[in-house]
Amino acid sequence: MRARMTPAVLIFGGLIIFWVAFTPVVIVPTYVIPDDPSETWDARTELEQRGREVYIAEGCTYCHSQYIRPQDWGIGADRLAKAGDYHQDAPHLLGSQRTGPDLSQEGGQHTNDWHLAHFMNPRSVRPDSIMPRFEYLGEEDIGALTAYMQSLGGVEADLRMAYQYKVRDDVIAAYEAGPDENIQYLHEQVPPGWRPLPNPYPATDASLSRGEKVYQSFCIGCHGPVGDGMGQASEWLYPPALNFTTIRRNLWEDKYIGGILYYYIMNGVTGSAMPYFKHELESEKIWDVSNYVAKYFIDWDDSNMEPVGVHSARETPGEGENSPPAREVISE
Ligand code: HEC
Ligand code: HEC
Repeated sequence: MRARMTPAVLIFGGLIIFWVAFTPVVIVPTYVIPDDPSETWDARTELEQRGREVYIAEGCTYCHSQYIRPQDWGIGADRLAKAGDYHQDAPHLLGSQRTGPDLSQEGGQHTNDWHLAHFMNPRSVRPDSIMPRFEYLGEEDIGALTAYMQSLGGVEADLRMAYQYKVRDDVIAAYEAGPDENIQYLHEQVPPGWRPLPNPYPATDASLSRGEKVYQSFCIGCHGPVGDGMGQASEWLYPPALNFTTIRRNLWEDKYIGGILYYYIMNGVTGSAMPYFKHELESEKIWDVSNYVAKYFIDWDDSNMEPVGVHSARETPGEGENSPPAREVISE
């Protein structure tokens, strides 16, 4: 006997397939996974809750997820998501699109003034961003959204925020003391091992062109087209981005600037809007943009002082004592 596709078979068959999928994916987890808070879960304040409502209303979840999967270690994940992180969340905002980065650990990654500039105009701090402007929300809603952003990540976000606030007073005090005092303060914070580190990659034309591209994509909105800190974002930032031209006259102690620039581009200036770029820029790009900033804005060129170089097949051999040796032509 052959089974016939009667309406009854279609309906019952469909229902059976539905329950076979629905039971293990929805019903079993609802009863088996306990709704206990994770070790980092933290109750939201009223302002953070208000921000969450703006987040839902504005559809931020269509571009941003809020969970980190094991395969995300490769893109600089901080912590994998746990069920207890979403304790009492209704609706949950896991999201399925990642047009923008995952926001589940956003708290404390940036300062409040960075968020203000970013919501007013994302392109001011991220020149290549495709995120829409949220200027129309007004000060109050942007404040609430920022509080919500800074709460994402629970207890760990609170720790990052506490550190930002702790350092912020010193950063502002140094900025207000004047440009020279500010550079001295900033350079004193760089660990001693980094300060004498020269840029190992010479400022070749190729390196400077690559550095210019990085500068235009990541830095120009804050530090400005001529490196004086008067980029578009300066209106919303305090302290504003550093004026690179004030660095040179304070280099009396430092022979090289490469290690200092590298350190700050990699780690950011905690307490200020200067972001860390260790997740986005690979080593070569950080050295390239350091070359660009050093040469055009600070008027300083480590590689001309005492040639240094890296021994790798990728590098062009140089002339100086410490440059990579000329490659021998291997013939058969
Ligand atoms: C059209 C997609 C889109 C929408 C809608 C959107 N974003 Fe974004 N968002 C992005 C992209 C792309 C980036 C990465 C570039 C950047 O930093 O601007 C980003 C970056 C961010 C960042 C910075 C993350 C980091 O640490 O670098 C935050 C915070 C953020 N978005 C919050 C929001 C909030 C809150 C909303 C809703 C009010 C929102 N976004 C709406 C696409 C979007
Ligand atoms: C969101 C704004 C912003 C962006 C984007 C930004 N910076 Fe900064 N930058 C700052 C601020 C703010 C400071 C610290 C100012 C202060 O403390 O006075 C700073 C400081 C620095 C310093 C410290 C210099 C020193 O000698 O102490 C370096 C180097 C630097 N930025 C390079 C860069 C580079 C390169 C990029 C792009 C890859 C970049 N910044 C992107 C805002 C920004």
